[in-house]
Amino acid sequence: MTTMTQTAPLVRVDGVTKRFGSGDKEMVALSGLNLEVREGEFLSLLGPSGCGKSTALNIMGGLLEATEGTVTFSGEQLTEPNRHIGMMFQQAVMFPWRTTLENVLLPVEIFGEKKKDFIPKAEELLEMVGIKDFRDSYPWQLSGGMQQRAALCRVLLHDPKLLLLDEPCGALDEFTRESMNQELLRLQDYAKSTAVLVTHNITEAVFMSDRVAVMSARPGRLVDIIEVPFDRPRRPDLQTTNDFIKLVAKARQMLELQ
Ligand SMILES: Nc1ncnc2c1ncn2[C@@H]1O[C@H](COP(=O)(O)OP(=O)(O)O)[C@@H](O)[C@H]1O
Ligand SMILES: [Mg+2]
Repeated sequence: MTTMTQTAPLVRVDGVTKRFGSGDKEMVALSGLNLEVREGEFLSLLGPSGCGKSTALNIMGGLLEATEGTVTFSGEQLTEPNRHIGMMFQQAVMFPWRTTLENVLLPVEIFGEKKKDFIPKAEELLEMVGIKDFRDSYPWQLSGGMQQRAALCRVLLHDPKLLLLDEPCGALDEFTRESMNQELLRLQDYAKSTAVLVTHNITEAVFMSDRVAVMSARPGRLVDIIEVPFDRPRRPDLQTTNDFIKLVAKARQMLELQ
């Protein structure tokens, strides 16, 4: 069961506007975005391409500064990347000269910690996502899906409170994408973290989420939030049920009605 108790939100996005460029070239990517992410939930940001989803996520990760408005994380205003926030992107960023294990351990070096303290955890994660046999292989020996699994291990190595996922399965084929999404849900549950997934795929947003935040076309703002009541763990055949199909139709309508 996924009964959610009301606690203070882990993340608050307050009136966030982002403008790129200036003068004639000024472009408003986000306009007064308000959003709360609850502790432990899986929330999707759903909207058409170019509506500002990645911009919103990068601001929530402290990678990009808002032009107006604020982001609060764990009760404090966020102004820079935070080690409790892990990010994953469409392309796994893997160094070709490093093995899978060494790629997973990269943040350990960035934080100046001892590698050997993190090897057991890294191996446990690699085993959980089914690529432990590839720990000493190089990225070019791994499929795209395996590389994304390795990237997922890397982002979970430091038990992030918040996972920000920018279309992490967007470049994968349909089958790999489904199993990768299952992996994401399983590991988010295992890590007890909160997740925000950016996607333009309506079915994926509904399948993965406790709530779907529907965004408008650019400049992006929040149109509405859809509560997704289905139990977890979620199995792929949920997608063929009437209730699921109805919710997907509702989200589609919201996107089309703007
Ligand atoms: N660094 C940037 N400089 C200028 N324009 C940008 C920059 N990043 C994004 N944009 C523009 O902002 C808008 C929203 O982009 P983005 O957040 O990537 O949308 P989405 O992720 O929803 O596809 C787009 O029109 C994009 O071209
Ligand atoms: Mg994007």
